[in-house]
Amino acid sequence: ALVVRHRMQISKQCVKSADILKELEEKCATPTSKLRQIADAMTVEMHAGLASEGGSKLKMLISYVDNLPTGDEEGVYYALDLGGTNFRVLRVQLAGKSGIEFQEFAEVSIPPQLMVGTSEALFDYIAAELAKFVADESEKFRLPAGRQRELGFTFSFPVLQLSIDSGTLIRWTKGFSIGEMVGKDVVAELTKAMERQGVDLRVSALVNDTVGTLAGGRYDNKDVFIAVILGTGSNAAYVERAQAIPKWHGPHPKSGEMVINMEWGNFRSSHLPLTEYDNTLDAESLNPGEQIFEKMISGMYLGELVRRVLCRMADEAALFGDTVPPKLKTQFILRTPEMSAMHHDTSSDLKLVGNILQDVLEIPNTTLSTRKIVVEVCNVIATRGARLAAAGILGILKKTGRDTIKDSEVPKTVIAMDGGLYEHYKEYRHCVKNTLNELVGDELAKHIKLIHSEDGSGIGAALLAASHSQYI
Ligand code: GLC
Repeated sequence: ALVVRHRMQISKQCVKSADILKELEEKCATPTSKLRQIADAMTVEMHAGLASEGGSKLKMLISYVDNLPTGDEEGVYYALDLGGTNFRVLRVQLAGKSGIEFQEFAEVSIPPQLMVGTSEALFDYIAAELAKFVADESEKFRLPAGRQRELGFTFSFPVLQLSIDSGTLIRWTKGFSIGEMVGKDVVAELTKAMERQGVDLRVSALVNDTVGTLAGGRYDNKDVFIAVILGTGSNAAYVERAQAIPKWHGPHPKSGEMVINMEWGNFRSSHLPLTEYDNTLDAESLNPGEQIFEKMISGMYLGELVRRVLCRMADEAALFGDTVPPKLKTQFILRTPEMSAMHHDTSSDLKLVGNILQDVLEIPNTTLSTRKIVVEVCNVIATRGARLAAAGILGILKKTGRDTIKDSEVPKTVIAMDGGLYEHYKEYRHCVKNTLNELVGDELAKHIKLIHSEDGSGIGAALLAASHSQYI
C-alpha cells in the first residue's frame, strides 16, 4: 500500500508540474506572427538608434570600420579578445592573397573576482599574459626590424568610439561590473597596463566581437554582410549605408558604408514574451532593466532561466520531493552547457539528465517522468531564445532591404555566426536556422546562408589592426 501511495504521489507531482510547464509553454510561445512583430519593432528601433545618439534602446554604435578586409592584408599582427569568461590572445602572419600563413593563440580564463574588481587589476592580469605571449613569438613570424607590434583589441561590451583606436565604455554587461571603468577609454587603460607590464604593443583597432566576426567572416567570404554572436551574451553587427546614419557627422567614408554594432542585447519591446522568470532574473541581476533581449536568448542566462522554472516546480508541485533541493536555490548553478547536455539526452531512460540532476544539483533518484519534465523545460527555454534570435536577424534583413525578392538579382546574404551557444548547442543552432527559413520563406532562404565563423572575432581584429596599421 505504501508503494502504491508513493507512486500516486509522484504522478500527482508530475501533474501539477505539468500544469506549470503548460503555462510556461503558453507564455513563451513565439508564433510566426509574434516573431514578425518583434522583427518590425527591431527595425523601428534600428532607425531610431541611427537617427540620434540615445534615440533608442538600441545603441547602433558607429564602429569606424568603413572598409572590411579585402584579403590583401600582410604582416604579423596580434589580437586580444576580451568579453566572456575567457580571453584569448593570438598572433597571425598574414600573407596577402595566400591568406593566413600561420597563427598561434593562447586562451586564459578570467578569475571571477577580476570581473568585479578594479580596472587596474583586470588589465594588469591581461597585460601580463600578453607580455608572456609576445615573449614567446617564434622566428617564423617575420616582423620587420624596428617595427612596433600592433594589436587589434576585441572588447565585447558597448563602447562609444571616437576613432578606430579609441572608445569609452558605456556600461558593462554579462556579469562584468567594474564601476570605475565606465566612461573611460578602454584602449588607454589597456595601454597603461601594457606599459606597466613592459610590453610594447600599439592598439591600432578597437572592435566589438560582432564587428571582428564580420571582418573575419568577410575575409573568407565576400557575401558576409551581417555577424551575430550567440555566446555568453548576444549581439549583431551589419554593414549600413553611411547615408542612412543621420547621427554620423564625420567625413563621408569613400566606401559609402559603415559597420554598425547594434548592441541588440539591450533591445526591448512589448511584443517580447516575458515571463515571471525573466522578470525575477532581471531584477536580481547585476544590470536590472538592461539587456532584456540578451537575458532571454544568450548563454549566460538560459540555464539560469531553466533553474528558476525548476525551482518553482520544486516549490509548488514538489517535483523533486517534499522540499526544494538546496542546491537548486543557488543562482547560476545550472549552466547552459549542462542544460544543453540534458536537452540532447537521447537515451530511453534519460540517464544523462539523471546524472546531471544528481551531480550538479545534488538531486538523487529522479524518476523518468521527472526527467522528461526537465528536458521539456530546457526545450521551451531554448526554443524561445533561438526563435527570438532569428526574429532579430529578420529585423536586420528588413532594415537593409534584404528580406524580399525584388528582382531576379537577389543579393546573397551570408551571416557570420559565432559564440559558444551557437557552436555547442545543436538544438538551439538548428532552431535559429529553421526559424529564419520559416520567416523568410523557401525562395528567399536560398539566398541567405548562416555560416559558423570560428574565432572570426580574433582574426577579424587582427585583420582590422592590419588595415589600420600606423605603417600604411
Ligand atoms: C554583450 C555585449 C556586446 C557583445 C555581446 C556578445 O551583449 O554588450 O558588446 O557583442 O555581449 O559578446
